[in-house]
Amino acid sequence: MLIHTIKEVREKIEEWKKQGLTIGLVPTMGALHNGHLSLIKKCVEKCDKTVVSVFVNPIQFCPGEDLDKYPRTLDADEKLCKDAGVDIVFAPSPQEMYPDAQMMSNDFFTYVIPPFFYTDKLCGKSRVGHFDGVCTVVNKLFNIVQPDFAFFGEKDRQQLIILKKMVKDLNIPVQIIPCPIVREESGLALSSRNKYLSDNDKKNALALSKILFNIKACYNNGITDVKALTETAYSYLNNNHSLEYLEFRDAENLEEKKTADDNTVVFIALKIGDVRLIDNISLARG
Ligand code: PAJ
Repeated sequence: MLIHTIKEVREKIEEWKKQGLTIGLVPTMGALHNGHLSLIKKCVEKCDKTVVSVFVNPIQFCPGEDLDKYPRTLDADEKLCKDAGVDIVFAPSPQEMYPDAQMMSNDFFTYVIPPFFYTDKLCGKSRVGHFDGVCTVVNKLFNIVQPDFAFFGEKDRQQLIILKKMVKDLNIPVQIIPCPIVREESGLALSSRNKYLSDNDKKNALALSKILFNIKACYNNGITDVKALTETAYSYLNNNHSLEYLEFRDAENLEEKKTADDNTVVFIALKIGDVRLIDNISLARG
């Protein structure tokens, strides 16, 4: 069932809560692919009722980013959700979520600001304010849907870590369920932004997963020095790549690692032309 208003979602949720049903939420920005669908499948399996939100959240885009050209494919998304057994697709307009245009400015609107220690690094460094926008909208969605479980992909691992921290710090009564990264056979992590890539760009985009898989293989062979592990990466890069970061960080609190261990995640972001791609890999064994 496709719903556009908060009021109608609330009515449904109230009905379900009265019946004692468990509710799962999968927040998305639409243009659904198999990565999203893996979260949706998990949610449908685990919860009595599944809500998928489809909302391209304007306040998490920085000036100059792809807000206007971000792919919007609601009809196809709705069909995929229906086939997957989703109970509600919640697709509000920006007006419904932010009724007063002034609300988009943090002079007039209550934002949820995650800790600086988590947002001054990795994607937060180049996308200033991005995670404030993510935490604010996810908080709003949690208040609207009141889910028992919410599903997020490890593809956006910094986002996942920050949202877990928000839920803990603000005592939000929801359990976050992390879901593994879904990749193409080539290794490329699925992303709505892959639609921007030409065939040649796609070949160049394989550098991300190749670098990460190679680092993991070297780590498994006993190399733990981060400098040595990083050096192996550069052979995969050419003139088409602009590396934004390649960093080794703690899986829980994003602290920098000088020596890799099983609690380390390797994060990478690189640009191919105008398209910015991210990926990560956990070095945990077993
Ligand atoms: P979006 O990019 O649409 O992603 C929605 C969810 O799908 C996120 O939890 C993301 O990590 C997950 N996902 C995307 N690609 C994936 C892949 N290849 N494998 C596994 N999971 C994948 O992330 C957002 O939207 C927004 O920031 C949002 C949380 C909805 C707030 O606006």
